[in-house]
Amino acid sequence: MTFIDIEQLLQDSTGLDSESIGSTTVKRVVRIRMESVGICDAAAYVAELKNNPKELQELIDEVTVPETWFFRDNEPFRYFSEYVRRYFVPPENGRLLRVLSVPCATGEEPYSIAMLLKEMGFTHQTARIDAVDISTRALGRARKALYGANSFRGDERHYRDLYFDKSEDGYRLHDEVRRLVQFRHANLLDDGFLPGSGLYDVIFCRNVLIYFSRELQEKTMIKLHRLLTTNGILFVGHAEGGRMLTDLYQSLRKSGTFAFCKQGSTLGGSKVEALDQSAKTAVVKPRPNAKPLATTPPVTPSKHQDRPAARVSRIRDMPLAATSAVETAANPITQLHQARMLADQGKLSEAATLCESYLGKNGVSADAYYLMGLIRQAQDQQDAAAEMYRKAVYLNPNHYEALIHLAAHAEAKGDRVAAASYRNRATRASGLESAS
Ligand SMILES: C[S@@+](CC[C@H](N)C(=O)[O-])C[C@H]1O[C@@H](n2cnc3c(N)ncnc32)[C@H](O)[C@@H]1O
Repeated sequence: MTFIDIEQLLQDSTGLDSESIGSTTVKRVVRIRMESVGICDAAAYVAELKNNPKELQELIDEVTVPETWFFRDNEPFRYFSEYVRRYFVPPENGRLLRVLSVPCATGEEPYSIAMLLKEMGFTHQTARIDAVDISTRALGRARKALYGANSFRGDERHYRDLYFDKSEDGYRLHDEVRRLVQFRHANLLDDGFLPGSGLYDVIFCRNVLIYFSRELQEKTMIKLHRLLTTNGILFVGHAEGGRMLTDLYQSLRKSGTFAFCKQGSTLGGSKVEALDQSAKTAVVKPRPNAKPLATTPPVTPSKHQDRPAARVSRIRDMPLAATSAVETAANPITQLHQARMLADQGKLSEAATLCESYLGKNGVSADAYYLMGLIRQAQDQQDAAAEMYRKAVYLNPNHYEALIHLAAHAEAKGDRVAAASYRNRATRASGLESAS
């Protein structure tokens, strides 16, 4: 057992290799930790790391670099605001805008997002930011929300004046902004990363992929693909955009930011221009296959009809309160709507029950099976999810989203042949639909 074993263990646990962290740094940190636990032999320390998760976490906390600051790089935040204003403002009761910031380090990124949302009229009842990091130490600092001058490196004076109280300890963020953010400890490498979290409208995953191997980058992108809504946006860091999986994502081609949407999203391709020209009359029309709920009846056009999340916007246009239990039971289509809405809110068990009841009463439906797949996936039951997607594809061989999910599932299982085959089918399906 040597120092190399410790480096390997760290890499296996975090994805960070000592080349990117710096071998000298790792050596120094390991020495400090060994001293602090009173172990002077490398082999004994490796054994300690393997047997004692607390010590492994201490080492991880020591070795990770939570370098971050408010409104880092600026442009992603500008584009985020543009997207949210265009599709989610004014905030609606009963529909939570969900954002994931991973890794969030000491909190400057998720709090920057929270300040923007606050400014646009969101509260903790209409928006939630899940902020995730592997470092418990960084999360501890994030939860305190107390910052020094080093966290303000850009031109965010306006936000500092508006949302922080200056004290002799530093700048303390107002509670009303803090309430929008929930911090969670999790490892991006875990197979069951954020089980049961539901889907996110926007994901920020910046300045961590660069430290991962190509293989881990790909796995991470597949995980994030599963967590993103059909018409959501994923932001990655400047040095990370060139490595995206192009069969899963497409670039939104915004200068100064590496923003991506899913293949098949209504934001993709030339539709990006529609977002740029939001002040004009452009309307983002969902692709036919971007509405999993094909059984959705036409609804009265509303101010939100051009939202990218067509699959949820139709549901959101119907106030939840108006959909009573009696109405739901009597109207199977409403039932599927309701299931979809519950799923989008992260109420997965309720959504699954409603969906199963729909299937029980109404027989087979590709869209219901697809929705069940999304729910099982969000519950981190990947094989059960794939089974549901297969049923959806059996009933509708051109179900684009189900095919894409099956491709991602096969990829995650290491079955590249099946993955390629599903992707080809999805490409053909999208061609069929756009031609029809
Ligand atoms: C440079 S910071 C990035 C923070 C922020 N996203 C930004 O761009 O300013 C990198 C963070 O990645 C976290 N990290 C490293 N490996 C991770 C993993 N496997 N899972 C979750 N977080 C991880 C570290 O703890 C550190 O806080």
